[in-house]
Amino acid sequence: MLLPIFCLLAQASAQKQLDWWETTVFYQIYPRSFKDSNGDGIGDLNGITSQLEYLKELGIGATWLSPIFKSPMYDFGYDISDFYAIQDEYGTMEDFGNLLAKAKELDIKIILDFVPNHGSNESVWFEEALKGHEKYYDYFMWEDGVVDENGNLQPPNNWVSVFRKSAWEYREEVGKYYLHQFVIGQPDLNYRNPVVVEEMKNVIRFWLDKGVAGFRVDAINHLFEVDKELFGGKYPDEPRTGDEDPDSYGYVDHIYTRDQDETYDMVYQWRDVLDEYKASDGFTRVMMTEAYASPQLTMRYFGEGDRLGSQMPFNFALISNVNGKSSANEIKYAIDQFLTFKPVDKLANWVAGNHDQSRVASRYSPELVDGMNMIVLLLPGIAVTYMGEEIGMVDGFVSWEDTVDPSGCNTDDPINYVQSSRDPERTPFQWSADKNAGFSTADKTWLPVADGYETLNVEVQRNTDRSHLNVYKSLVQLRGELAFTHGRYESVALNSDVFAFRRWYNGENYVVVVNFREEQFTVDLTYFENVVGDLEVTVSNIQSPKAKGTIVQADRLEIFGSESLVLKVK
Ligand code: NOJ
Repeated sequence: MLLPIFCLLAQASAQKQLDWWETTVFYQIYPRSFKDSNGDGIGDLNGITSQLEYLKELGIGATWLSPIFKSPMYDFGYDISDFYAIQDEYGTMEDFGNLLAKAKELDIKIILDFVPNHGSNESVWFEEALKGHEKYYDYFMWEDGVVDENGNLQPPNNWVSVFRKSAWEYREEVGKYYLHQFVIGQPDLNYRNPVVVEEMKNVIRFWLDKGVAGFRVDAINHLFEVDKELFGGKYPDEPRTGDEDPDSYGYVDHIYTRDQDETYDMVYQWRDVLDEYKASDGFTRVMMTEAYASPQLTMRYFGEGDRLGSQMPFNFALISNVNGKSSANEIKYAIDQFLTFKPVDKLANWVAGNHDQSRVASRYSPELVDGMNMIVLLLPGIAVTYMGEEIGMVDGFVSWEDTVDPSGCNTDDPINYVQSSRDPERTPFQWSADKNAGFSTADKTWLPVADGYETLNVEVQRNTDRSHLNVYKSLVQLRGELAFTHGRYESVALNSDVFAFRRWYNGENYVVVVNFREEQFTVDLTYFENVVGDLEVTVSNIQSPKAKGTIVQADRLEIFGSESLVLKVK
C-alpha cells in the first residue's frame, strides 16, 4: 500500500528540470549609454564590468549587449566594419576578456549582438569590393541602375530603406548600386554567396570561442532578398501600399526584401553551430532573434520539422500591438497571441522595451511601470528587460541639434523628428543624482541625460522602500517560485480596464491584477478557480496604498487607479 502513495508524492515533486536560459531574466545593455569609465561621455566595456554587481543585485542571470564591434557609428554600432574587433571607444579585447571573467565570477551570461544582415561601407570587405576584389565584391548586393527618360541614372527599383529614401546607393568605382536596407553605411550582405555564409558562421565561432553564451540576432527578417533569377535577373519593384511618400518605408509592401523563406534555414544553420558547442561541453548557447513579424512568421524561427532554430524569437506584442491607452481586452489579446501560436514545447518570451522603442513609462505611463514589469516578469516564459525599465526611466528630450540617430536625422524635419528618433530611449543610464546622473564625468555626454534624473535614479530607489527598483527585485525573486517557473496560466479582462492573470502550481496560487486606467474599480477575482477568501498582497506598485502583507478579499477587491498587485491565495 505504501508504494503507490510514495510514487504519487515523488511524481508531484519531480518538476521538469529547466535549463539556465529558461528561467533567467535577460537584461539588455546599450553599451554607449550604460556607464562611462574613462570620462569621454560614451559608455564602455570597463563601465559595464564595473556595474555587473548591479545586475547581480537585480537578480539578472544574463545580459545582451548591443554591438560593441568596430564601427564608424553611422547607426551606433549596427554598422560593423570589423566583426572580429572591439570598437576603440568601447575598449579593447582585453577589456572584453575582463568583462567575461567578472561575469563568470558572478554567474552572469554574456550575450552579444550578431548583426548578420549588413556590414559597413567603411569595412575592409567593402573597400576591397570597390577595388574590384572579386571575393569581397560578391559579399554585397550589387545591381545596375536604370536610365530614365531624361537620360539620368536612377536606382534599380523602388525599394526603400527602413531609414527612408532609396535602399540603393551608387558607387562610381564599380558603376553599380549596392543595396542597404538600413543606412547608406550599412551595405547588405549577400547570403546567396556560400562564402558569406561561412564567414558569418566564423564570426559566431570567434565569439563563442571567447566564451559568450549566445547571440541576439539583429534584423533577421531582412536577411534574404527574393532570388532575382526568378525575375529574369533583375530585382522587381515591390508593390505600392498607397502611402504617398516615396521616401517612406511604408511606401511599398516589402514582399521581396523581408521574411523570405531562405531566412529560416539560415537561422537553423546557426543553431547547428551553437549546438556543436553544446555537444562538446553540455552548455546551451542561445539565440534571441529580432524580427518584427506576424505571430505565424515569428514561430518559424523556433524551428521546423527536425530543425531547431532560435530559442527566443522576440515577442514584440507588448511593444507593437498595445500601449497605455489599450483596453484590458486588447492587452489580453496581445498576450494570448504568442501563447496561442507558439509550439507547445517552446517557451514564450516577453519584451516591453529596447533601444529602438520609446520607454515603458512614456509609452504606457509612469504609473504602469511596475504593472508592466509584473506582466513581463510573471507571465509564463522568459523575461527580457531593457536597461532602465527597472527604475522606470522615461524618454529623454533630445533637441533637433543634439539628435544623432539616423532614423531621426533622416526625417530632415526639425519639428516632427521626435516621432522617428530613437535617441530619447537611449539617453544615459541614471545611476545617481551626481553629474550626468553618475553615468560619466565628461562635460558633455554623447546624448543629454534625461530631465528628472536627480530623483529618478538607482541610488535614490535603492534607498526608498517603495521604489520601482525594489518592486523589480521582488518580482525577479518571486519569479523563482514554482508557480512561475513551472506553473500554469490563465488570464481575463475583468472589465475593459483591468487585466488579471493567475499562475499556479500544485498548492501555490497567485493572481496578478493590473488596472490600466486612472479610475477605481471593485473587481471579483473568484472568476479564477481556487481563488476565494483571503488573498495576501505579495507585491504592489509604488502608488498602491496596499503594503506587502495586506489582506484583501477575492470576491471584492477594490483596485485603485493605475494600481497593480501580485496577490497570493492564502
Ligand atoms: C535593429 C536594431 O535594433 C536597430 O537599432 C538597428 O538600427 C537596425 N536593426 C539595423 O541594424
